[in-house]
Amino acid sequence: MSAALDLASHATQCVFRSMQFEDIDRVAEIESEIHSHPWSRGNFSDSLRAGYGCWVYLSGNEMIGYAIVMSVLDEAHLLNIGIARDHQGRGLGRALLKHITDFAASHGAAMMFLEVRSSNKNAIALYESTGFNEFSVRKGYYPASNGREDAILMGLTL
Ligand SMILES: CC(C)(COP(=O)(O)OP(=O)(O)OC[C@H]1O[C@@H](n2cnc3c(N)ncnc32)[C@H](O)[C@@H]1OP(=O)(O)O)[C@@H](O)C(=O)NCCC(=O)NCCS
Repeated sequence: MSAALDLASHATQCVFRSMQFEDIDRVAEIESEIHSHPWSRGNFSDSLRAGYGCWVYLSGNEMIGYAIVMSVLDEAHLLNIGIARDHQGRGLGRALLKHITDFAASHGAAMMFLEVRSSNKNAIALYESTGFNEFSVRKGYYPASNGREDAILMGLTL
């Protein structure tokens, strides 16, 4: 099987479902592995209680990713997305993002917005190749190891 087919079939075998409170331990574990300033368990449980769109992505029984989306009128805000480190770079982040944008569009969202660290070149490349455009820069928005870091605000018409 070619590499491209292998990557595509991996994503099609994955399951996208709503996050449950029982998922939070594993979600928070992945989060702490992939972010310099991770969300806490409380941030994820608050998101579930607030009724945000909270999703997990599974390969068999293994959780490999998650995403959190807050909806305001016809705007969807992607607050968090992550793929477990060992599974990155195999097309799964792109597939998970497509599930999220498709779900938001089919539930009435006209736009999706997100903020991303200016240093996060991999994520920015994913968003740009999905069709997100840069709207503005929030100076010093994020804490960083050497002070503060800018956020790029991006938006996608759904
Ligand atoms: C950003 C993230 C979700 C992407 O998921 P992924 O499964 O690694 O990405 P994919 O394999 O689907 O690749 C999608 C695109 O991302 C970009 N990308 C991903 N890994 C990359 C790398 N190592 N180098 C350069 N570009 C990369 C490419 O544009 C790629 O498209 P291509 O394969 O057609 O070139 C994942 O890397 C992650 O969880 N990172 C840590 C958490 C994070 O930064 N979240 C986003 C916060 S805004």
